[in-house]
Amino acid sequence: MNGFIYNIPTKIYFGDKLCMLGDELKKYGKRVLLTYGGGSIKKSGLYDRVMKELKSAGLEIYELSGIAPNPRIESVREGANMCKEHGIDVILAVGGGSTLDASKYMAAGAKVDFDPWLFLSERAPIESALPVVTVLTLSATGSEMDGGGVITNLATNEKLGRMEDILRPQASFLDPALTYSVSSFQTAAGSADILSHIMETYFTTEPDLYMLDGIMETLMRTVIKYAPVAMKKPCDYEARANLMWASSWAINGFITGGKTHAWSVHPMEHELSAFYDITHGLGLAILTPRWLGYCLNEKTLPKAAQFGYNVFGAPATYTKEQAAEYGISELSRFFFGTLGLESTLGGLKIGRENFAKMAAKATGGGVINGFIPLTAADVEKIYELCL
Ligand code: NZQ
Ligand code: ZN
Repeated sequence: MNGFIYNIPTKIYFGDKLCMLGDELKKYGKRVLLTYGGGSIKKSGLYDRVMKELKSAGLEIYELSGIAPNPRIESVREGANMCKEHGIDVILAVGGGSTLDASKYMAAGAKVDFDPWLFLSERAPIESALPVVTVLTLSATGSEMDGGGVITNLATNEKLGRMEDILRPQASFLDPALTYSVSSFQTAAGSADILSHIMETYFTTEPDLYMLDGIMETLMRTVIKYAPVAMKKPCDYEARANLMWASSWAINGFITGGKTHAWSVHPMEHELSAFYDITHGLGLAILTPRWLGYCLNEKTLPKAAQFGYNVFGAPATYTKEQAAEYGISELSRFFFGTLGLESTLGGLKIGRENFAKMAAKATGGGVINGFIPLTAADVEKIYELCL
């Protein structure tokens, strides 16, 4: 096990704790920039509830709405400028991963006098950022507890992200009931995203850590058990709560345990979103079983078999080869049967026309050192398998 530093400064308010929002925000100052997406929070009544809390706490409120899925750099620029113009003390992001991610870069953009896109395109240093507090409405990305953020620039067909501790939210309000209104499709896509975050960490040929493998297997089984329940019964608290807490723990750093291998499916998916603006979790679902099948070799077989046995319950009598194949086919059945997600890129009207360009970008001109090393040629083949 490699050494690591584990430090998650995000305070979690889990359950119906919105009455504490005002006090949490007041710690950082008086002027709040409230950010949100396309209007789901108005439809659900959450906007009114948040406003009531902010007003009764005597906070000065500024608003930025319309943050799109696959959040655009234009929103980030606008938010950063608003922060500077109004002397904002804290950003309150209310929504899914897109709103949270965009808000993190607004927080960093508020502290510099250059275009915040340079944080992504040139990896300009992020030395300080305004505090960000979140109210999560969709269980998926883990942005509520991690330092990640992914931003899209449609002008250049780029979707770029990075992870920085300084971008972790100061506090996040996680009320599973706020996800009751999430559509069946977004519940499925979000669940695929949670599962993928765990799988990206789990599938490695680095020495295993028994404890963390067990936790990851439980997290994966949690998503597999509760995603279909939440889709059938959107107001099932237990299902929504399990998905929400799994979302946070899938990517907050705990399960990594010092592992250093690169993620493979996310860079491939980010290119799909950059070129075709598709839903992140859907792209991951299409790619993951094909990628896993492509990775199978002597070295990766033991872990793939472990996944088959421990996550999908392959019979103990199965050989490792059979267990690995079983895990992959059950995973496909889960994504495309149980969750009802589209199973091919062709089904999304995506052809091979940009595969070479996307593969070159996904590998950054080099190799993705993940479960197996992937060159651009490998990535192109995996895209082909998804057609
Ligand atoms: O915009 P509104 O009107 O709020 O509607 C949203 C949006 O249309 C809707 N929604 C959210 N909460 C809802 C709701 N609808 C009804 N009821 C609710 N309670 O759902 C739609 C999708 O929202 P979005 O925020 O885009 O979804 P998600 O949370 O899946 O975020 C996806 C983004 O996060 C990035 C992805 O690449 C993508 O851009 N990621 C961020 C990561 C991170 N911060 O670490 C890691 C991930 O791997 C991922 O890359
Ligand atoms: Zn993801």
